[in-house]
Amino acid sequence: MRLAGALVALFSFSSLTSALDDYAQTPSWEVEGFAKENPIGLTTGGKGGPTVTVSSAAALKTAVAGDAPKIVHIAGEIVLPSRLKVGSNKSLIGVGTTAHITGSGIDVVNGTNVIIQNLRISFITDNDCITIRNSTRVWVDHNEFHSDIEHGPDAYDGQVDIIRASDWITVSWNYFHDHWKSSLVGNDDTFRDIDSGHLHITYHHNYWRNEGTRGPAGRFGHQHVYNNLYVDFRYQALHSRSDNQMLVEGNVFRGQTREALSTYGLVIPDDSPNTCVCGDEELDGFANLGAANDWGNATVNITQVGTFTKAPYKYKLTQLEEVEELVKAGAGIGKV
Ligand SMILES: *[C@@H]1O[C@H](CO)[C@@H](O)[C@H](O)[C@H]1NC(C)=O
Ligand SMILES: *[C@@H]1O[C@H](CO)[C@@H](O)[C@H](O)[C@H]1NC(C)=O
Ligand SMILES: *[C@@H]1O[C@H](CO)[C@@H](O)[C@H](O)[C@H]1NC(C)=O
Ligand SMILES: *[C@@H]1O[C@H](CO)[C@@H](O)[C@H](O)[C@H]1NC(C)=O
Ligand SMILES: *[C@@H]1O[C@H](CO)[C@@H](O)[C@H](O)[C@H]1NC(C)=O
Repeated sequence: MRLAGALVALFSFSSLTSALDDYAQTPSWEVEGFAKENPIGLTTGGKGGPTVTVSSAAALKTAVAGDAPKIVHIAGEIVLPSRLKVGSNKSLIGVGTTAHITGSGIDVVNGTNVIIQNLRISFITDNDCITIRNSTRVWVDHNEFHSDIEHGPDAYDGQVDIIRASDWITVSWNYFHDHWKSSLVGNDDTFRDIDSGHLHITYHHNYWRNEGTRGPAGRFGHQHVYNNLYVDFRYQALHSRSDNQMLVEGNVFRGQTREALSTYGLVIPDDSPNTCVCGDEELDGFANLGAANDWGNATVNITQVGTFTKAPYKYKLTQLEEVEELVKAGAGIGKV
């Protein structure tokens, strides 16, 4: 019995290790999705520029200013006194497992070609952890985001919010946990003219645990959401509203997750509506289902099937049975 148990444990450990190795060795450990394949070019961040290592807020602010290519390594905890504005052509990469941003969050505004990788970002009190606004080609990869969920939806803002006609973005292998509002795409239903035709975003292999809403919630754009793991995503994980299109495939939902996916436009009371405690009325969105999802105990409410039936790029879909283990092992900091 004991030997058999040990063999089973050994077997599953080594098969997981090789699954991760497989992943790391294929191009898909690199950027995949809309930040890779799009009409304006591959997201390379600071590639080709000098590398600097910073460990203070002042040095970080200086390092990410301007549009010249630069690779900025961040070591240790940095308490930002105000929003960090990141210029174009930058890679922000945490060193080991030490890099930790707290205090104020990060803005990518009016920019292009930015990589944010291997950072822990927590308890941001002035706005979102990361806001991507009027910017293109951003890759948010292998970060950890967390605060607490006990203080309600508005104690903190979003974790990764993507707004004002931003485009060609990939959010991959992040660990989002203990936070209410995760990722809002399009932050107002009156911005149809600004946002329509933009907000093409890929979310893949992210691990969401003990979150409230918006994993993500999208308006007016296109999001390809595949191979993500949702555990105890309490109220509503995926929400497609205001004519937004979502392609949803190969995702796994576990634990106390109430609603996995909805295209019913109502901004639910649990998602901090602006005008009525009963929720804000909005137009419905659309969803398409590709490869099978495992909804667990969660409900699905698709009111309109859309036209986003196939991603316009090549990508590596993980087998549904392997998603839970692979995402838990591969998401977050200290992996790349
Ligand atoms: C930054 O990237 C943009 C877009 O690729 C490019 O047009 C610009 O020249 C780059 N800036 C510098 C200083 O290289
Ligand atoms: C972004 O561009 C707009 C329009 O040009 C400008 O008003 C705004 O100040 C810019 N924001 C930043 C942070 O550079
Ligand atoms: C968006 O950013 C571009 C620069 O990339 C700027 O020219 C434009 O004014 C910005 N638009 C808005 C609405 O901020
Ligand atoms: C569904 O809920 C039950 C009861 O809480 C729980 O035991 C089970 O693990 C849940 N199923 C999934 C797939 O998470
Ligand atoms: C599902 O959508 C319909 C609208 O088509 C709505 O009436 C219903 O309340 C929704 N269900 C849930 C659980 O929100």
